[in-house]
Amino acid sequence: MSNLRFVQGVRVMNWGMKNRLSQIMGRHDDGRCVMLAVDHGYFLGPTEGLENPREVISPLLPFTDSIMLTRGILRTSVRPESCVPVVLRVSGGSSIIGEDLSKEAVIASIEDAIRLNASCLAVSVFIGSKYEHQTLTNLARLVDEGERYGIPILAVTAVGREMARDSRYLGLSCRIAAEFGAHIVKTYYCNDFDTVVRSCPVPLVIAGGKKLDEKDALKLAHDAISSGASGVDMGRNIWQSKTPVSMIKAVRSIVHEGLDVEGACSTFIHQPTKANVTTKLQK
Ligand code: 5RP
Repeated sequence: MSNLRFVQGVRVMNWGMKNRLSQIMGRHDDGRCVMLAVDHGYFLGPTEGLENPREVISPLLPFTDSIMLTRGILRTSVRPESCVPVVLRVSGGSSIIGEDLSKEAVIASIEDAIRLNASCLAVSVFIGSKYEHQTLTNLARLVDEGERYGIPILAVTAVGREMARDSRYLGLSCRIAAEFGAHIVKTYYCNDFDTVVRSCPVPLVIAGGKKLDEKDALKLAHDAISSGASGVDMGRNIWQSKTPVSMIKAVRSIVHEGLDVEGACSTFIHQPTKANVTTKLQK
């Protein structure tokens, strides 16, 4: 478990918890991870670029350390022979056209998560929003269930609409999620991100957010890792890119190989070709 030496509190975890956490955070000796997020459809429906999940996921799988998705997309769009660890989204219940996105419940049982061989469960918490309390109690319940079965919990933090995505509010959200027992916390990159990292005692991964120019998205990943993030959980900036395979390779080179933005861009980001847009393999 030496690859987990970066994770505070790992000594007190049971073997199953350590094993699953190491599938997410410990596949490399740096304690970092590249997680591919393709769970957007759970509230957005057929998001641009993710209309056909199987076609999107398949060429990217060989280059990600884990994949974050719902059970519906896992069952239909990833081959069961796949060895890529699964981060199963288990919260939901509102859509982009519904009353309030923060109105979420736990939408999959722990038994089904185990049947699906999930290595981690993802639940959103919406701090400062109308249903803050219920999303935090969702997290608390999942942490209890995860501890019972040795499955780590990823808390996906969001802040209320009127709150700035700055270090104060993101720091508040991340810290609350860690206090509730989340094993990994996902947030957004912001100025003074190192203060968010310092006040959150569990590994932080960052979302990519809305599609940016490739170089800007790589800079975001680079800045986050340089400020202490343990990895990325990126979606749109990978699969909405014209060259998704090149983009995930570039992100990976920043997270695991220490490339800077220029290096990652010049090595991986070229004009679309058949080779960088698709590969046939599913790991
Ligand atoms: C949605 C999510 C997404 O997985 C998350 O936002 C990451 O994707 P992106 O990089 O596209 O922002 O958790 O609630």
